Amino acid sequence: MQAVENFIAAEPAIAELLAARPAFKMHAQDGLCFEDVPLNAIADAHGTPVWVYGAGSIRARYAALVQAFADAGLAPHIHYAVKANDHLAILSLLRGLGAGADVVSLGEFSRAQKTGVLPSNIVFSGVGKSRAEMAAALTAGIGQINVESAEELRVLSEIATGLGQTARIVLRVNPDVDAGTHAKITTGRADNKFGIAAHEIPALYAHAKNLPGIEPVGLALHIGSQILSPAPYAAAYGKAAALVRTLRAAGQQVSVLDLGGGLGIGYQDEPGISLAAFANAVRQQVGDLDVTLLLEPGRYLVGPAGLLLASVTLEKQAGTKRFVVLDAAMNDLLRPALYDSYHGMLPVSAVEFVSPVSPAEVVGPVCETGDTFATGRLLPGFAEGSRIALLDAGAYGAVMSSPYNARPRAASVLVDGGKFDLITPRQKLEDLWADEILPNAIK
Ligand code: LLP
Repeated sequence: MQAVENFIAAEPAIAELLAARPAFKMHAQDGLCFEDVPLNAIADAHGTPVWVYGAGSIRARYAALVQAFADAGLAPHIHYAVKANDHLAILSLLRGLGAGADVVSLGEFSRAQKTGVLPSNIVFSGVGKSRAEMAAALTAGIGQINVESAEELRVLSEIATGLGQTARIVLRVNPDVDAGTHAKITTGRADNKFGIAAHEIPALYAHAKNLPGIEPVGLALHIGSQILSPAPYAAAYGKAAALVRTLRAAGQQVSVLDLGGGLGIGYQDEPGISLAAFANAVRQQVGDLDVTLLLEPGRYLVGPAGLLLASVTLEKQAGTKRFVVLDAAMNDLLRPALYDSYHGMLPVSAVEFVSPVSPAEVVGPVCETGDTFATGRLLPGFAEGSRIALLDAGAYGAVMSSPYNARPRAASVLVDGGKFDLITPRQKLEDLWADEILPNAIK
């Protein structure tokens, strides 16, 4: 019993979740509003499940990041990590704010280009770029390729030379720092697949300098995602700074330091990373290096700016457990199933918002027990059709969705200036099999 009480005490109440998110307001008549738009109006117009993104929130978050660095006397180039949310509307919005892009596939590169991001303002990361991807990016005039191994460097040199091009590259250092985040999204430890060990960098940099078709311009790091403390960043950037000095002492030119992304947000009641502390750590560790700084934030910019709006299909009691079954599932929002991650939930109805709560298992209709959004979550009683907002789903939400269980992909909507636009129609049933081919023999 003690354990249950502790668990419940640790959960933020729905009123606390709301209070911590100023873009959300509860109105007695309209119910829950996001950036002044009633979520009921969106669900009435476009059904559920539906992703809802807030342009105002994205603008504010971008501005706060720029300001925190300005306060620290720095002006890093922001290359939005497209993988967090690759919708053309989001990319266009961020491009309009001045962001470049960080991409990890030809698909992401093409999406960024499609929204007008100049290839020269795109960096290409990733541990396994294919020859075709390298060739396409070079042909288009990619600004920077982040090389993750000696093997990749050799192939890139071959391809660039064949195309008569010079690839501007940085070497991605694996600083062997534990970012203190979930094991599945940590990337900067020596046993992770990413980057090049620090002690191998000087020789590889010198080698790169002599390779045809390659121009090494600096270093990159990315130590993981959802990082809440500046300490692992400071440790990693300190190692990078030492490497830059070593390289320069050996006569190498180093003009770029790509600091990666990973800035963590508050999902439950933990505070997100302090931008001021992060910017100060950057200044302290690398501020005197006289390099162009790049940042690759994804989640920080778009995570809290999006939600998944779902409806309650039914409530069922099974033994002692109360199950709230939604029309959204793990195929829509995979993060809880994959990482046991927490997403806040708010009832959309003002009446439900103040109703008595009891512990609930919040699940989707997919035929797996892993299709669980929350266990023991304190929520009011719901009726069929009650609506629930799953919070902080703007990053790694829609991009990780799938049509598993032949569930059409959800619609998405962008809220801006008190209005909303449909930006992805709900997938139609016939679209589920539109690309499939029946061989004649089995027709
Ligand atoms: N740069 C590189 C090289 C990356 O690999 C990533 C994320 C980023 C930047 C952006 O990181 P962010 O600022 O968004 O933390 N699906 C997981 C997150 C995977 C992150 C992968 N790499 C999740 O849902 O938590």
